[in-house]
Amino acid sequence: MSNRSEVVIRDLVKSVREVLRHHDVTFEEYRAAVGFLMKYAKAPEFEIPLTCDMLFNATVADIEMTHRKGSVSNLEGPYFLESAPTITDRIKTRDEQGEALIIEGRVTDLSGKPVEGAQLYIWHADPQGYYSGYSDDYPVDLYRGKKIIGPTGEFSVRTTMPAPYTIPHDGPSGELLGFMGRHPWRPAHVHFKVRAPGFIELTTQAYFAGDKWLDSDSVEGVRSPLVHAPGIRGDAKLLKKDFVLDPA
Ligand code: DHB
Ligand code: FE
Repeated sequence: MSNRSEVVIRDLVKSVREVLRHHDVTFEEYRAAVGFLMKYAKAPEFEIPLTCDMLFNATVADIEMTHRKGSVSNLEGPYFLESAPTITDRIKTRDEQGEALIIEGRVTDLSGKPVEGAQLYIWHADPQGYYSGYSDDYPVDLYRGKKIIGPTGEFSVRTTMPAPYTIPHDGPSGELLGFMGRHPWRPAHVHFKVRAPGFIELTTQAYFAGDKWLDSDSVEGVRSPLVHAPGIRGDAKLLKKDFVLDPA
């Protein structure tokens, strides 16, 4: 383990030094960069993980996919909560708001056999682009749920369409995006996590075809197999999403 960190950290430092040389970085610029990093010390605690996720989390998901064959994984983001309520066929929403969305599919192993008892967590932003569970007046049972998969592997859950969302951008993470000429928007998306004994935990997202922010996601998480053109069922949009789990 210490050998691995030695190798990886030495390479990381080497890459940064190459960038400094390549761009003829001056003392002044170097000090400005250190000064910028100092802002994280005074910022709220979430800023460091936010910046790391924004820059590197999707890459780690891509790396994972070079080692397994099941559904394409994607970044978890900062808003997963273990304490999501168990649901049957509905995620609790503020009913008067938002366009209905039905999410349905199957949870299987690589051979297509249902994974009975898998826990499927679903969470997403509300129609205003906010996540529940992070303030006293926004309880955790809204816009998230944990579905226990039955013997057929199939699930069908009704909720509402998430809205596009800006990552918090009034701190250093937002400033960093600005330095790179980027905006803080993420396309609308639904998060999923699937857990089952004997299988690798799958964390992924679904995006919607036609979304304005697909090509410029602030956290660069969009991957083409995760972009879905929703169908229509009655008054609802219909997102078909299957989850194929790799053996542990
Ligand atoms: C990030 C990811 C999200 O899905 C989200 O809603 C907000 C932020 C992130 O990786 O920083
Ligand atoms: Fe998100």
